[in-house]
Amino acid sequence: MLDMACGGGEAVRVFRAAGWQALGLDRSEAMLQVARTRNERGATFLQARMQESAKLGSRFNLVTCMYDAINCNLRVEDLFATFRNGYRLLLPGGRFVFDAFTVGGLHRAYDGLELHTRTRDHIVLTASWVDQRQHIGTKELLGASRVPEWTPWREEHHVRAYPPKVLVDGLKRAGFTSVTLYGWPSGRIISISETDDLDRIIVVAQR
Ligand SMILES: C[S@@+](CC[C@H](N)C(=O)[O-])C[C@H]1O[C@@H](n2cnc3c(N)ncnc32)[C@H](O)[C@@H]1O
Repeated sequence: MLDMACGGGEAVRVFRAAGWQALGLDRSEAMLQVARTRNERGATFLQARMQESAKLGSRFNLVTCMYDAINCNLRVEDLFATFRNGYRLLLPGGRFVFDAFTVGGLHRAYDGLELHTRTRDHIVLTASWVDQRQHIGTKELLGASRVPEWTPWREEHHVRAYPPKVLVDGLKRAGFTSVTLYGWPSGRIISISETDDLDRIIVVAQR
């Protein structure tokens, strides 16, 4: 299997523990370093954008893109390029699996101020809001870390939620033969019209 936008390598770790051969890709070298540290020797992590086909020389039974990573596609063109790349990387019959914020879920999750972390060495506050027209969520993190001495810092993250019909149509256009939506956390198969009240869905597309 291949995990796109693998972050700290959690999916690779879980699949390898279950006996799979697993490879992780991420655009961030810093996240790849974390993934390599957290995984035992033998796991491979490579730098690549999820929208572009990395030159891997092999195709996979399963391609995943987990924990809101699909929502990092802020433009619909990038989202569809990711779907085409997932399709290219799969063997015939293989599956592309990702979770996604619903539009309602993003609006509920990205709303207001939160004390995110408070430990001996770090304090982090978050402020989140969503652009009403494009459904792009911004999370501003304001932090201070003790090491080597109290230093303030600031980061900003953006994610975009898409209506389920955009996801399904984009996957079909990329060539996938079937697309199944699952509610989260129920794991129940759902129709497009049932996604409104859910915060998150799981999408399984078969090549
Ligand atoms: C919310 S984290 C999810 C990480 C991981 N999938 C997990 O389950 O923990 C999003 C990750 O997507 C990566 N990312 C964002 N845009 C990307 C892109 N265009 N191509 C590859 N990785 C990307 C970030 O570097 C980050 O590691």
